[in-house]
Amino acid sequence: MKLLVTGAAGFIGSTFVRIALEARPDDEVVVLDKLTYAGRRENLAEIEDRIEFHHGAIEDRGAVRGAMEGCDAVVNFAAESHVDRSIAGEEGFAITHVIGTTVLLETARALGVERYLQVSTDEVYGSIAEGTFTESSPLDPSSPYSATKAAGDLLVSAHAHTYGLDAVICRGSNNYGPRQYPEKLIPLSVLNALHDDFLPVYGDGRQVRNWLWVEDFARAIDLVLREGRRGEVYNVGGPDELENIDVVRRILASTGRDDSLIEYVRDRPGHDVRYSLSADKVRALGWEAQVHFYEGLGRTVDWYRENEWWWGPIRSGDYREYYERQYGRALAE
Ligand code: NAD
Ligand code: TYD
Repeated sequence: MKLLVTGAAGFIGSTFVRIALEARPDDEVVVLDKLTYAGRRENLAEIEDRIEFHHGAIEDRGAVRGAMEGCDAVVNFAAESHVDRSIAGEEGFAITHVIGTTVLLETARALGVERYLQVSTDEVYGSIAEGTFTESSPLDPSSPYSATKAAGDLLVSAHAHTYGLDAVICRGSNNYGPRQYPEKLIPLSVLNALHDDFLPVYGDGRQVRNWLWVEDFARAIDLVLREGRRGEVYNVGGPDELENIDVVRRILASTGRDDSLIEYVRDRPGHDVRYSLSADKVRALGWEAQVHFYEGLGRTVDWYRENEWWWGPIRSGDYREYYERQYGRALAE
């Protein structure tokens, strides 16, 4: 199979490509990535000679056609992935998630691609006080990030319904693991703790997230790509739900710091209180989460400790300005 993987220079996409090539060494992989602040060629370094890399955007028809020609399947990871950035300005989110997805779908149809997989998120369902979202829960997104992701998902379903495109959607809960850009809660907290800097907790810290080890999500996507039923949605909920404050405390303990580094800061506007996602349907295909939160968090902390070459350049680049804008103070040296 020849796969086009978009957004593969990012956190989850790069993990997926490594796992797919490990499982099927004879597959060919073409990558199309715009290399935004979150996209890094270093994420693909170990497999650089096994992929064909195209630098370009999914909203660019020429770039998409050039990369997709001759491919049997498309897996779309390309996204602006951070909720706080979407609250600060949503246009880039709409361009990538709505226009970009449209261009991918139209090109896939025009070229007769056999399978299209859209990578999506539990955030399209909104917040749930009790119980767990399933594939039949209504979409009720609350942030510009999740609203534009939901729009992308609806376009995928429309193309499957109207034109018979063989498309599937895979929605994951909060991922964590190596190579996640340090704007997200876990890598931000780990790096701040390692620098003895404060750990910002939004609001009261009682919000709940459903954590999923990134390699478990990548394996689920690979399975749905091959075994998922045409036109269907597959949710991939992680095995553990935790309040943010417990996540932060665990990170402090794992890095040998104490709770005095916790600082409660202004809450995120429109903050979703709780996410909870089922995994029954993908489990019926044969998937099972392999890594629980405490084990995965330990592995993540170790990886950030050992890979300053990866995060050092991020902390000395544009991230400093983002951090100051977002948190109203400078990043610790
Ligand atoms: P990321 O921010 O680490 O990576 C996104 C990648 O997409 C980067 O390489 C970036 O350069 C690329 N990109 C952005 N806009 C592009 C465009 N217009 N054209 C081509 N490439 C573009 O994100 P991630 O955390 O790896 O998320 C990947 C996908 O998984 C996204 O679709 C996201 O919505 C979804 N998802 C993420 C999570 C999570 O917890 N991070 C959970 C569920 C689903
Ligand atoms: P985040 O990693 O941004 O993922 P998402 O918003 O997609 O769930 O945030 C995870 C949770 O952590 C969310 O409830 C917001 C909270 N949070 C903080 O309390 N402090 C922070 O500095 C960040 C980035 C997030």
